Amino acid sequence: MNDNRPIIAANWKMYKTPQEGYRFARQLAIKALNLTGVEFILFPSATGLFHIKDALKDTSVGLGGQNIHSAGEGAFTGETSVSMLLACGCRWALIGHSERRHIFHETDADIHAKIPAALDAGLNVILCIGERLEERQAGSTGAVLRQQLQDDLAGMESFPIERLVVAYEPVWAIGTGVVATTEQAGEAHAQVRAILLELFPDLPVEKVRILYGGSVKSANAAQLINTAGIDGFLIGGASLDIDEYEKIAEISQIETKVKL
Ligand code: PGA
Repeated sequence: MNDNRPIIAANWKMYKTPQEGYRFARQLAIKALNLTGVEFILFPSATGLFHIKDALKDTSVGLGGQNIHSAGEGAFTGETSVSMLLACGCRWALIGHSERRHIFHETDADIHAKIPAALDAGLNVILCIGERLEERQAGSTGAVLRQQLQDDLAGMESFPIERLVVAYEPVWAIGTGVVATTEQAGEAHAQVRAILLELFPDLPVEKVRILYGGSVKSANAAQLINTAGIDGFLIGGASLDIDEYEKIAEISQIETKVKL
């Protein structure tokens, strides 16, 4: 994954039926031909994956699951295994999203078990981290990011770190319309990179891409993608609308070219 293109990932959460997702993916497959300067990844709900993989056939648009279970298989009602995702054409797993952490009480220990399960099976991982509002207000953003990275990646001294993407998503910015300022995002991204360098001094940490997520839309995409340390976006609400999603991709492509 030696790729400097910005990742434009869509987290659809619990929106879109398989049919709606398929239609979106068909349209994106056509538009993606002109947007080769970005890397698209779609995270539909599990029910849509099998269908959507056909819509993305012969395209470079990636597909991923919003969640995985760490076990290969078993009596885990309601859960999805890595091999099920692979059979649906997935190359990616979203792990540790704040809604999984805070609504479904997923712990860092749970997340820690999922990451090697995904990587060992050949899936790339987007690991989501981020502080809550009260943590930012208390000045502990850096400490929260450190604790999450330390616990989620504990004991993983040697692993294919280039297949790990980190999404910095301040919880207070997710779905709220309140976006982090470029200063806040830039500072957090620099902290994430520095923590990774400290945790994995012998690994090629420069290959880890760090995405920003939290109320990204076309109106703020240019300033965010121009912020040092932001390698792409994980987009929730704004990714549900194909025009808005493509607009964000287009802006990211243009701005990244300007940067080079
Ligand atoms: P949002 O969600 O873009 O709607 O804020 C981001 C996310 O949950 O990944």
